[in-house]
Amino acid sequence: MLTDVEKFCLREFWEKNPNQMVATPADFKKVAKPYGLEHSDYRVFLNPVNRESWGKYTLEPFLTYKDELLNTKKIQETLETESEIPMQNVVSFKTSSENKPKMHDITNTGLAVPHSDSNFVPWGFYKDIKTIIKNKTFFPVFISGLSGSGKTIFVRQACAELKRPYIRIQITSETDETDLLGSWRLQDGETVWVDGPIVTAAKEGAICLIDEIDRSSSRIASLLGILEGQPILIKKTGEIVTPKEGFNIVATGNTKGRGSVDGKYTFAIIVDEALLERFYINYTQVFPNEKTVHKILSSYSDNTPETTEFISYLSRWVSMIYQTFERDAIDDIISIRRAVQILKIFETFKNPTKAIKLGVSRFDEIEQNAFLDLFNKVSGLTIKKEDEDDDVTISSDNLAEGVDVKVLATSWIAQKV
Ligand SMILES: Nc1ncnc2c1ncn2[C@@H]1O[C@H](COP(=O)(O)OP(=O)(O)O)[C@@H](O)[C@H]1O
Ligand SMILES: [Mg+2]
Repeated sequence: MLTDVEKFCLREFWEKNPNQMVATPADFKKVAKPYGLEHSDYRVFLNPVNRESWGKYTLEPFLTYKDELLNTKKIQETLETESEIPMQNVVSFKTSSENKPKMHDITNTGLAVPHSDSNFVPWGFYKDIKTIIKNKTFFPVFISGLSGSGKTIFVRQACAELKRPYIRIQITSETDETDLLGSWRLQDGETVWVDGPIVTAAKEGAICLIDEIDRSSSRIASLLGILEGQPILIKKTGEIVTPKEGFNIVATGNTKGRGSVDGKYTFAIIVDEALLERFYINYTQVFPNEKTVHKILSSYSDNTPETTEFISYLSRWVSMIYQTFERDAIDDIISIRRAVQILKIFETFKNPTKAIKLGVSRFDEIEQNAFLDLFNKVSGLTIKKEDEDDDVTISSDNLAEGVDVKVLATSWIAQKV
């Protein structure tokens, strides 16, 4: 008696080699590997008692399965288009368990059409992402870029605008196949199968955002087959999920999948070359220019004159830091996420000193001083690290007279480089 997984391997083998009655280990590896299946999953067909010659095994003993397996596939395919075919026709292949598991209600999985973010400012390759998602074809995309640069928001917002269901998976080094595909859980004394986010997305034709994929371990090798758009085999139930139209995967990473050379993202590992190859397009989220930063920050503004003024300093400061970073003259940046936080601090306390000092407090001393120094030059204020923060309020009076901010800042960058 073969297990469901073994039947699956055999079926895939015969699908690809319809008239072949002799198999080599390499034949099985070829059909099994894309699904993340291993030698132990098809070992039964490589039993020494069936060896015909060196490295060749006869499949005669399994011939009785051939019709059943190829028919099941046909029934499943018909089922995709003709829903009136009774479900019982396929259960023999779906699961052989006596107590047929209940499939979990998908409302609990985090799958939803995201809310549109009124603060969102489209720029860069956002248009492309929208086109890809709108097309509904399977087209895996990888987006790399520094943390807080707007990778996740691009995907979430595109789904919101296009009213497409979306599900997000945050990858850590602990993430394994169970987290992606699903697991058995005990619920009210009953064992129920709960689909994981990828399976849910595949069944619903949703966009699956795999966030920070470069923190993964080899335990997510099953992604390989999925990234090729193949049916997903859930080994633990024997269910095969053929992705519904609209299913797509977008993955993000802080590095370009080649680890972090400068040690900034200490958990980022080297994403397997094979995994990277599966993505059709690889976008890099670069730093937005000053105008775009200004636009983004303005979308969060309370529109008071103080805030408006602060935003113009803030966006100039942030984009100068980007330019300096790109020339390798400083080791850190103020991300869009952090710039938004600094703006919020400002709006709360109406105090630029406090906002900037709190905003840079996580960096080391040298970096903090460099950031404050540049902000002073941009704004005409004199914020020092050891300053009390409650006596400076921003107004044009604080601007040193006749100071050309651009000239000052450029010379600051020149000194650093
Ligand atoms: N284009 C944008 N429009 C509005 N806000 C943005 C934009 N890009 C980034 N942000 C802000 O920065 C935060 C971080 O963006 P996010 O997409 O989570 O970054 P990443 O995924 O690259 O780490 C968002 O929550 C949002 O507040
Ligand atoms: Mg993100």
